Amino acid sequence: MSGETSASESRSRRPTEAEMEDMTPDQLATLAAELDDVVVVQNLPKFPVAGTRAEKRAERAVAGWFLLSGLFAAVFVVAYIAWPYEYKAPSEPGYQMYALYTPVIGATFGLSVLLLGIGVIAYVKKFFPDEVSVQQRHDGRSDEVDRRTVLAQLAKAGQDTTIARRGLIKRSLGLASGVFGLGVGALALGGLIRNPWEGGKHAALWVTGWAPDHGEKVGTGYEKVYLRRDTGALGEEIIEKGIDGIRVRPEDLDAASMETVFPFRMSDLKDPKKLDHVLKESDTPVMLIRLRPGEQVTLRSGQEDFHYGDYYAFSKVCTHLGCPTSLYEAQTNRILCPCHQSQFLATEYAKPIFGPATRSLPELPITVDDEGYFVARGDFNEAVGPGFWERKS
Ligand code: FES
Repeated sequence: MSGETSASESRSRRPTEAEMEDMTPDQLATLAAELDDVVVVQNLPKFPVAGTRAEKRAERAVAGWFLLSGLFAAVFVVAYIAWPYEYKAPSEPGYQMYALYTPVIGATFGLSVLLLGIGVIAYVKKFFPDEVSVQQRHDGRSDEVDRRTVLAQLAKAGQDTTIARRGLIKRSLGLASGVFGLGVGALALGGLIRNPWEGGKHAALWVTGWAPDHGEKVGTGYEKVYLRRDTGALGEEIIEKGIDGIRVRPEDLDAASMETVFPFRMSDLKDPKKLDHVLKESDTPVMLIRLRPGEQVTLRSGQEDFHYGDYYAFSKVCTHLGCPTSLYEAQTNRILCPCHQSQFLATEYAKPIFGPATRSLPELPITVDDEGYFVARGDFNEAVGPGFWERKS
């Protein structure tokens, strides 16, 4: 009952439009509190006397956080653009710098955000007045008087924070926000700064390490591309001890089994780094699957001769977001991507049958050479991995 009385009293005290025009922002803010049944119990400015040493010290401390935030944002922008980001194998020079790329951009961006947040919190704690207010809650939507007085109240709150006369803090906050915004912009525009189409038809998104012309010329064609298993041996060791066991033969796989394979050329033996590097290229891993004999299979148009008997080779890079589709369930012939549970059917050209992926896993054309080793007959006939605007399939 007393709440209703108070609300109706407040309504009766409401000023007219003309009266409001004559009111100062402070009066409007006070009116806003009254109309909202807010009682300000205490409002103590942090620095009642302006310009004291304590106040300047507090101001420098807050500005320090913002400047540090701006510094880390600047380092982030420089690292994002200029740090060597292209893959290097552990044995290659420059690997240490490459390995630091993600930690450096992650740490600098994170610290920049963190320090900006700390600066804002420090400002609130050091400069906002200590205020205790009590408000009675009431229902209904706000009318014109409420809206105008609330705006005035917010403006007064802004004044109370004393930000208007704190040039150092405003400038440092502006600098930090500006550089931070630059960093966010660099993130968004990064894809445009680095041109993924450098190389035209041979751009990295179109071809993989299985492309024949990645090897040496032999006569009118190119050297063989074998299907290689990862034995765990490094390049130096393979060159020293020989290549026994790294090239895959049909009899190496039991029916209803799977092996992950990578491209291997005899010319790779000239360079241990290349032997290591090929295992790390993100678009080359392939699942070589041997189906059970007599399995009912549907072949994809244009890929009818890509398989060799019961052996099928599919890209291991999920067409949803690029995770490795590492799981092969022999009972159902399903290939499962553990990231978001997409499933592909090995007996139907690895077409997606469940989950978010919408495209089949690309199939590698394979055969067996006259020595009995699996070889690739060419690259995939479409781009591997997730979709992008320019791809047609
Ligand atoms: S990356 Fe494979 S389902 Fe999402």
